[in-house]
Amino acid sequence: MAEVVIVESADAAGEIAADAIEHLVRSNPRAVLGLATGSTPLTTWRALAARGLDLSQVRGFALDEYVGLPPGHPESYRSVITREVVEPLGLTPSLVRVPADSGPIETAGADYETAIEAAGGVDLQILGIGRTGHIGFNEPGSSFASLTRVKTLTEQTRRDNARFFASPEDVPQHCITQGLGTILRARHLVLLAFGEGKAEAIAGAVEGPVTASLPGSAIQLHPHVTVVVDEAAASRLALAQYYRDVYAHKPEWQGL
Ligand code: PGA
Repeated sequence: MAEVVIVESADAAGEIAADAIEHLVRSNPRAVLGLATGSTPLTTWRALAARGLDLSQVRGFALDEYVGLPPGHPESYRSVITREVVEPLGLTPSLVRVPADSGPIETAGADYETAIEAAGGVDLQILGIGRTGHIGFNEPGSSFASLTRVKTLTEQTRRDNARFFASPEDVPQHCITQGLGTILRARHLVLLAFGEGKAEAIAGAVEGPVTASLPGSAIQLHPHVTVVVDEAAASRLALAQYYRDVYAHKPEWQGL
């Protein structure tokens, strides 16, 4: 089962995720990180930046990207990753890839898979979860075997992301996202979620049936998952007290 860590705040969750990344990078300075955008990972990046680690050799692969925004658009995930991750953390820009950042869109998915494979695979994948239950931009119905490919965003996701754009119509219809199969190949998944609006998606992902209707439930198929949630996002977990007990009594040698 996924390890579920229930914390009091998004800041506390960011420290835990930063611990996992710090531990990894101290053991392998060339580690491969799976990078997520959105509001959720911001406390992780902030906590990590405050530690002043040398992350210049770390390789990074973003989960997803919009399709159809003009190059350099401030809300393209290339721009967001540069602004929120690469610059504050001192990553080396040429070592950080975003889907469809080179070459034609038709082959961008396969190219991205090849690049991830050539890097030796993702060691630690940071994930948020959408209210539709998506991870990456794998909307409900996505195959658990899917690899990086172009998808159509749901109207719910477009509405949720409209806050980043001047008008809701500016949110692209299409995206390119690592598939659920791609995500499941990462060696460690760290899924973060905060707030009541994520409670249903988290309960479904962690405890619901494994179903393409809730893509986040794919995490149940992975042997090493850490779910870090605040009280509100944990509020619909039937086994919340058990997760608290497990974490409180966890042997220190197990790490995250
Ligand atoms: P959020 O998005 O972190 O901005 O809530 C998460 C997601 O849509 O995966």
